[in-house]
Amino acid sequence: MTNQQSAFTTLTAAEVTAVAPWLVDDPHNCHFYHTMEIPSAGLFEGHVDLRPGVQAYLGDISLAGQRVLEVGPASGFLTFYMEQAGAEVVALEVPDDEPLEMVPQPDLDLEAIYCDRIAHMQAIKRGFWFAHRHYDSRVQVYSGHADRLPTAMGRFDVTILGGVLLHCQNPMAVLRACSAVTDGAIVITEQAHPALMRTPKAPLCWFAPSRANRIWDVWWRFSPGFIVQALELLGWHELTWSTHDQLSQGQAYQHFTVVGRNRVQSRCDVSASHTC
Ligand SMILES: C[S@@+](CC[C@H](N)C(=O)[O-])C[C@H]1O[C@@H](n2cnc3c(N)ncnc32)[C@H](O)[C@@H]1O
Repeated sequence: MTNQQSAFTTLTAAEVTAVAPWLVDDPHNCHFYHTMEIPSAGLFEGHVDLRPGVQAYLGDISLAGQRVLEVGPASGFLTFYMEQAGAEVVALEVPDDEPLEMVPQPDLDLEAIYCDRIAHMQAIKRGFWFAHRHYDSRVQVYSGHADRLPTAMGRFDVTILGGVLLHCQNPMAVLRACSAVTDGAIVITEQAHPALMRTPKAPLCWFAPSRANRIWDVWWRFSPGFIVQALELLGWHELTWSTHDQLSQGQAYQHFTVVGRNRVQSRCDVSASHTC
């Protein structure tokens, strides 16, 4: 599977096809990021439990009959929830050999961390495919990064990015690429940062890593106002946001969700290159 995946990196965006489903029988070889109750397999405890607050996490959008792009499904709790609610879901997950955009921390053994991360993501992906099989799911998965979407995925009624932007070195490029393929609504959910929530409408962004804190997998924390202002620039006219608590290892953490609707296509969708 790894060889098959890495072969994609030599293809152009238009040539990339959906990942062939992995055959995973044994949940003990899986890591579940989400707590998931998987049909005919049981309950698996994960790092986060989105079950009680899933509707708020998804911005209370209508899912039935919608073609949904889910960026970064991890174990797929949201994926299969949305499919069960009647959406046609297409997911984009990071390639096996490029699992994240790592912060250049000078005092860490980044190579060792990178190898561990590759193995960790493989275990999360096995959990996704284990659940996919048990749900008898039709969800397609593409391999890639959210700022370079494979064109074969097509267009979407709704795009969801939950807990993704904080991991992206260039969040504006990701919002721009995702907006360009979305016709109906875009949903952005992030964990709220207490300092930024004092003035939630201000367009604030917190640079998370420092040499002292040694954070290597998170670049940013955002205010709701930052996401709203960025989406306005990308042509989204009707913007709403809400806050909600989500559970991680028994503790409630405040999150916010911004929903953009009613988008006017932009010249920026076509290309960032200039002809004049
Ligand atoms: C914190 S998990 C969130 C999982 C799920 N979306 C949720 O809201 O619970 C972040 C997910 O985004 C993926 N991810 C991170 N950076 C990405 C990128 N540049 N392109 C696509 N997926 C990315 C990770 O691999 C992982 O699956």
